[in-house]
Amino acid sequence: MRKRVTVGTGPSSYLEAGSGPLLLVLIHGFPLHAEMWEPQLEAVPRGWRIVAPDLRGFGPAAASASRRAEAAPSLDDYADDVLALMDALGLARAVIGGLSMGGYVTFALFRKAPERFAGVVLADTRPQPDTDEGRANRQTMRDVLARDGVDAVVRDMLPTLVGESTRRQRPDVERRVHALASVNGRDGLDAALVAMMHRPDSTPQLGAMRGPSLVVVGAEDALTPPAEAQRMQQAIAGARLQVVPEAGHLSNLENPAAFNAALFQFLKEGF
Ligand code: MLT
Repeated sequence: MRKRVTVGTGPSSYLEAGSGPLLLVLIHGFPLHAEMWEPQLEAVPRGWRIVAPDLRGFGPAAASASRRAEAAPSLDDYADDVLALMDALGLARAVIGGLSMGGYVTFALFRKAPERFAGVVLADTRPQPDTDEGRANRQTMRDVLARDGVDAVVRDMLPTLVGESTRRQRPDVERRVHALASVNGRDGLDAALVAMMHRPDSTPQLGAMRGPSLVVVGAEDALTPPAEAQRMQQAIAGARLQVVPEAGHLSNLENPAAFNAALFQFLKEGF
């Protein structure tokens, strides 16, 4: 069930599961919201509590929150929101991670407050900023969003979000992704596209990550492919890499059993 708190930066909504003393914060990707972590929230290991925030402008609660309509946030603002939520929940330190855009926010958070990290999980993400071509693509996506709405953007993105195996064997996953994404409003998605377009290079952060680190990637991820995940793992001291078979960019939703096995093994052995 979604919970709401009002924190320094405004209202925040999040999902949580488990009641253990060990804490894992999972930040969602674009164009989704906290519920993308349902397969992980439903299987939370003993001893752990998982908190999954909705980023500003995302999730079913966004439309009703006045702050959500404010000026364009940056990824740093998203990171501040997550930190404020952690403060409000009394989470001094946690294993913090995210998938794709959630990874970009994780990097921003690490830049601001590395002391809040007990460990890090980087799923289907990359430290580099957008290329010129990437920025141009985002601008096209903004135009589609303004002209044709959220559904059109999701339809355009779906073929790159899920992998070939999922497309062939598990059409229910595509339907689930579409249903999750359509809850989001235009403003929130547009703001995130702008925030991602202007995100800085987080490559310098990799060498500063010292705690237990997990890099996880779908074997069929076309957006942030395994070769890039491997480069990221090699740049983080002691990081482990797990490749999720038969999964694309949304590895946690496409092959939850393998994703959970990798994540929960990391949590069990690292803490
Ligand atoms: C995501 O899954 O969060 C997006 O693919 C990130 C991006 O577009 O860079």
